[in-house]
Formats: sequence, structure tokens, C-alpha cells
Amino acid sequence: MHYTPSPRDPNAPPVRINLLSDTQTRPTAAMREAMARAEVGDEQIGDDPSVNLLCERVADLLGKEAAVFMPSGTMCNVAATLVHCRPGDEILAHETAHIIAREGGAHAALGGFQITPLRGADGQFSPDTLRKALHPRTRYQPPQVLVSVEQTANIGGGTIWKKAALNEIVQIAIAAGLATHMDGARLLNACVATGIAARDMAAGWDSAWIDFSKGLGAPIGGVIAGSREFVDQVWRWKQRLGGSMRQAGICAAACTFALDHHVDRLADDHANARALARGLAQITGIEVQEPETNLVFFKPDGAGITGEKMVAALRERGVLLAVMDGRIRACTHLDVTASMIGETVALVREIVRGA
Ligand SMILES: Cc1ncc(COP(=O)(O)O)c(C=O)c1O
Repeated sequence: MHYTPSPRDPNAPPVRINLLSDTQTRPTAAMREAMARAEVGDEQIGDDPSVNLLCERVADLLGKEAAVFMPSGTMCNVAATLVHCRPGDEILAHETAHIIAREGGAHAALGGFQITPLRGADGQFSPDTLRKALHPRTRYQPPQVLVSVEQTANIGGGTIWKKAALNEIVQIAIAAGLATHMDGARLLNACVATGIAARDMAAGWDSAWIDFSKGLGAPIGGVIAGSREFVDQVWRWKQRLGGSMRQAGICAAACTFALDHHVDRLADDHANARALARGLAQITGIEVQEPETNLVFFKPDGAGITGEKMVAALRERGVLLAVMDGRIRACTHLDVTASMIGETVALVREIVRGA
């Protein structure tokens, strides 16, 4: 079994420009200092002051009663569905959702849930599509209990769900008796791009979380928020799944540092993504999806080269990215500069010329 190309492939030149994912960021020197200074305790018994502070900050940021620190975004999603659903229940999500395609089947394996994939452009389903997918409670059909969205939609191109659509989905869910879950792996990207506060984006959603190990640049962690009762139940699953930690304040301090120093700068990543898309679009035969945040999806096939070959040619030149769902995904983040973007565009042009 393997995953996307490793930055440490001994048979390839060193990676100079890492556009593989915003998970590739390294903690900065200042973040490491904040981690070293962190006051810590036993997180599992609620005694780590740095974790408690982070949870209070995120609960407030998302406008919820309480929050809990988790080792990963995946565990946020898994614990949330385990709280919201019972075996045999149905979850509705976009067909490209991380919970369907990239969590190792956790929701089926651990919860016995089935996820109905909804269609729609750019990783988003319309309120109408959700409406049409709902069915009455009968003895034949699985009980529909949860609707989940990704803000931003990763495989959709880092697209931003409009606030009006989010509101409408919440209204439909309430009317049908469904709970609502927001996978906010890149929620703050959406907030910075639109100027809409995180608490407004998450308003009405029963559970919402943010990831710190992506654009925010921390090494580990997600924080999931909701009502006090929801968070109590998430804690039970966190314990059951082996996600309770000890002196986790070292990691929580990195996350709090990120909230203070790495949120506004997400705008730089978005500007770099736009510059990359503009540069690529000027190369004949390259098809680029207009980025809304920090993800740029493009296809070079029209220039006479496949995505796989383009990725391999770039890797030989020290640029790391990958093909994802049939297109190349380039991700801008903390460790990507404007000059790296210029260099990447120049290299793609050179490869296309030689193709
Ligand atoms: C939309 C989305 N949800 C969830 C996750 C899972 O987060 P983590 O890698 O922290 O487990 C990711 C990670 O890429 C993601 O993109």
C-alpha cells in the first residue's frame, strides 16, 4: 500500500517546492518556542491548561458551548458521526467528501453507518439535491440522521460554500429531523477569503471543527465544537478510540500560536494560489479551475501530456505535487512563497514546450 509521492524519495532530487498539501508545513521557530514554553498537565483528566485554553478559544471562535482537542481531523469526523448516528443510520454528504473517500471506511467499520453520496459541481450539493434525497421514515429505508458538508470542499477545488446555501441546508435538516455536521478542515480559509466570521459560518450546525495541521501550520490536532452534551459524548468516543492524550498542551500551544499568528496570513496562500492559476492558464492546453482559496486543480492533457507525466516531470525538477481524482492538485501554504509560484509556472511551461 502506498500514498502520494514522498518528499524524501531517495531516488528523486530533493524537493525545493512542496505543493503536495498544506499538511506538509513545518512548525516555525516561533511556534516551536511557544510549544517549548507550554504549561502542560494530564489532558485525559482535563488537567492540561494549554489544551483547556485552546478548547475555550475554539468554542468561542465557532460560537459553540464547548470544544474538545483531537489528534486529527479524521478523528473529529469519526467521533462526530459516532455521536450523531447509530448502526444502520444514513448520512448524506457530497460524493467527494473526505468521510466517504479518505477515512479508510471508518464510518462503516466503526459505526455501521451508510453514507449516501450526493452529486453537485465543485464538491457541493445544492439544497434542492438534499431535499430530493430525503425520504420518509419507513420500515424499509435506513433512518436518515445526519447531513455533512466540507467547508471548504477539498476535492471540489477548495471551493467555499455560500452562507445562504449553508443556512438553507440547516433549515432543510431541521425540518427533516436531521443533525448537521461541518467538516471544517479548511474552514478558516473560507472565513479569511470571504470575511465571514467562523461563528457565522458554523451558526446552526450541530457540530463543527477546525484542523490545525493544515494551512494553520501546527504539527498535530483538530478541535471539534458543539453543545456541552455533544462534547461530553465526543469525549467518550475519544477515550474509546484511544485519542485521549497526556501532556498534549505542547501540541495545543502550537495551535493557539497558529490562531494568533497564522490565520490572517491565509490570505497570502490564497493570493499565491490565484497567481499560480493565472500563470498556468496562460500556458496553451492547460485547463485550470479558478481557485477560491488555497487549492489549485489543473489538467495538462490539452497540452499533450498526462497529469501523471507532468507530476513526474515536475518531481524531477524538485517540485512536489500529485494527481488527485483525475486532476493535478497544487496546494499553497505557509512554506510556499510567491517566487516559488513563479518558478513552478516557468517549469510547467518548459515541460509543456518539451512535450
Ligand atoms: C476535507 C478534509 N476533511 C478531513 C480531513 C482529515 O484531516 P486529518 O488529516 O487531520 O485527519 C482532511 C485532510 O486532508 C480534509 O481535507
